[in-house]
Amino acid sequence: MSKPSILVIGTGYVGLTCAACFANQGFKVTGLDIDEDKVQLLSSGTSPIFEPGLDELLTAGLESGLLEFTTSADAASTADVVFLCLPTPPLPTGTPDISILRGAVMQHREALKSGAAVVTKSTVPLGTSKDVAAWLDRDDVHLVSNPEFLREGSAIHDFLNPDRVVVGSLNHDAALVVQSLYDGLPGERILCDPLSAELIKYAANAFLATKLSFVNELARICDEVGGDVDAVTYGIGTDHRIADSFLTPGPGWGGSCFPKDVAGLAALARSSRLRVPVIESAVESNRDHFDHVITQIRKHVGKSLQGANVAMWGIAFKAGTDDTRSSPALDIAERLTAEQCDVRAADPVAKVDGNLFTQMDMYDACTDADLLVIATEWDEFRDADLAQVADRLSQPTILDLRGIISPEAAAEHGLTVHSLGRP
Ligand code: UGA
Repeated sequence: MSKPSILVIGTGYVGLTCAACFANQGFKVTGLDIDEDKVQLLSSGTSPIFEPGLDELLTAGLESGLLEFTTSADAASTADVVFLCLPTPPLPTGTPDISILRGAVMQHREALKSGAAVVTKSTVPLGTSKDVAAWLDRDDVHLVSNPEFLREGSAIHDFLNPDRVVVGSLNHDAALVVQSLYDGLPGERILCDPLSAELIKYAANAFLATKLSFVNELARICDEVGGDVDAVTYGIGTDHRIADSFLTPGPGWGGSCFPKDVAGLAALARSSRLRVPVIESAVESNRDHFDHVITQIRKHVGKSLQGANVAMWGIAFKAGTDDTRSSPALDIAERLTAEQCDVRAADPVAKVDGNLFTQMDMYDACTDADLLVIATEWDEFRDADLAQVADRLSQPTILDLRGIISPEAAAEHGLTVHSLGRP
């Protein structure tokens, strides 16, 4: 039997990764987008986003002829499986806006081939699969929810090495077709109903965000009463029920997914008149954590923030990506500049336009700075030339929010390293 042909509607971060990875797995894939410039760029083998390994897969896919990009809606009529990878930006209430998704479904619904599976892939609000089925209004086209669990910065690795593949559908045959797309890949297969599949995605992100809020609270407790958060997280992470990943304190969680998904889940609960204090307080705790970080910066600058100079390493919300959406680094910079503190920032790939800070080379940013704050765990920062840092700073102090600099190594250059929850 020939392999199902795939259409991916929306070539953003999720759509592009899926398209390139499915082509890598030998499927014929078309990526459809309304943005002509982007389609041209992609067709020439250039990725508009920074994602390790993506350029290589893109080039290989285009060269093999398995991957192509188009703006033409005709592509919808030949695909066996149609992935919807469209944005659902949050409305002011926190509820995701599904109008773009609806527009795309309405545009393509009549053209879809009989028997096609339409798959929601990027994160959609709970119940969207039911909405999509209603918008499609086609008995011969089957809806499947197949949420993605890709982390920015390791999306290709995550796609090709899933912990699990979740397939939610009311149509068993359509579910099996979608499941078969992952046949060459490891991981557990979970077949369920579409709503449960949607909720698995929200629950995973909300649980991980809650875990991080908890860990950051432990770091704050250690900052106040003593103790070493690394020893504590190691101590609890060895309990297999807790598990040892996602236990590293940081500047607070951010990115394009956690804040949006946790807010989305809380908003959904509120609209159903449900109290979900655990989920709500994960968000509140993260906000408190940003306050704690500013308090620590103030303490280590050692004088008024007004007129102080702070060097900030890292702008992206984490290492391995150029994504600055809901980046804790930007939140910190905004709070510092609001107090007339001068911020100079450096990042290996992320860029931010505007006046929030001056962006420069990582060592130049340290020149005459009262404090170096490390906000993102890039290897470039981990492997920094500490002698140069010590030469440039006006006060030999680093606030390492990611715990990536060895205090002993830094001490050899006369630098003092403070980090969250560590003595
Ligand atoms: C997250 C999920 O991890 C993915 O499974 C999911 O598919 C994705 O959202 C999504 O919904 O699309 P991502 O936003 O790329 O992935 O980032 P993570 O690596 O999960 O990090 C989220 C935040 O937690 C970042 O701010 C990161 O710096 C922070 N973090 C993570 C910590 O502070 N400590 C840790 O130990 C881990």
